[in-house]
Amino acid sequence: MFSGKTALITGASSGIGEQMARQLAAVGCNLILVARRTERLDSLAAELASVTVDVITADLSDPQAAEAVFAQTQAAGRQVDILINNAGFGFQKPLLAVDQLGMVDVNVRSLLALTQLFATPMAERGEGWILNVASVSAWFPIPGMATYAASKSFVLTLGRALHEEWTSAGITVTTLAPGGTRTEFSGKARDSLDPNLEKAMMPADAVAAAGLRALARGKPVVVPGRQYKALTALVRLLPMSTVVRLAGAVMGRHR
Ligand SMILES: NC(=O)c1ccc[n+]([C@@H]2O[C@H](COP(=O)([O-])OP(=O)(O)OC[C@H]3O[C@@H](n4cnc5c(N)ncnc54)[C@H](OP(=O)(O)O)[C@@H]3O)[C@@H](O)[C@H]2O)c1
Repeated sequence: MFSGKTALITGASSGIGEQMARQLAAVGCNLILVARRTERLDSLAAELASVTVDVITADLSDPQAAEAVFAQTQAAGRQVDILINNAGFGFQKPLLAVDQLGMVDVNVRSLLALTQLFATPMAERGEGWILNVASVSAWFPIPGMATYAASKSFVLTLGRALHEEWTSAGITVTTLAPGGTRTEFSGKARDSLDPNLEKAMMPADAVAAAGLRALARGKPVVVPGRQYKALTALVRLLPMSTVVRLAGAVMGRHR
């Protein structure tokens, strides 16, 4: 379905984004890879030489970055059929200890700006696909990781609404909400990982495949893995005060 199209993937230098790049290249989809680590993107581009691959170095915490990325694709004459807003990060630190605005700039601001910029020509063509990466954390506030959970909640709520809003414009909006996934994310997010969370981790290639499959099928939201589907269902049944306490104890290390 995506053969011959062009996908722009943010956060393509590792983890879920890198796996999506590999899987899309395997079906003949051309790529524009975006992240800060240019060497990683260049070596991935060299590996995926069976399709056309462009590399754009951008720090998406810079409020001007989304506009600059869009301008670079325009200047290169590249039409973006598929936008994958995957770049993101989080950390287990209380708001009183560390400034967290940079996380909002990457996880929320740049995602929203890129969505608006690239959806405009998609709507003019009457065709386009947008895959936004949220998290199961979107379903519950996490004391100790409050900003991260809130940022992913934004992504989920935005995506659900735009899925409905843009159906008539021919744009499919899908939100991928992974649970724990084996990538570089955990090492950066936490000092140590609860052994039970470690056991429940999913491989990045399976998570990437679930997201791309859901996008191709036009689904509004996908939560990969039975354990994480069950978690999001359970959260809806429990009182919110219990959910917040449990989330803080297990994921935020908050006492
Ligand atoms: N792994 C998990 O357990 C998990 C669970 C739920 C949701 N997620 C979400 O999945 C997405 C992908 O994460 P991952 O697990 O694949 O982690 P990862 O391996 O750490 O990948 C994160 C990607 O985001 C890019 N990125 C981070 N900050 C950036 C910035 N300022 N500007 C541009 N790019 C930036 C990184 O590239 P550079 O460092 O090269 O810039 C990297 O390519 C994130 O949105 C994350 O929140 C992950």
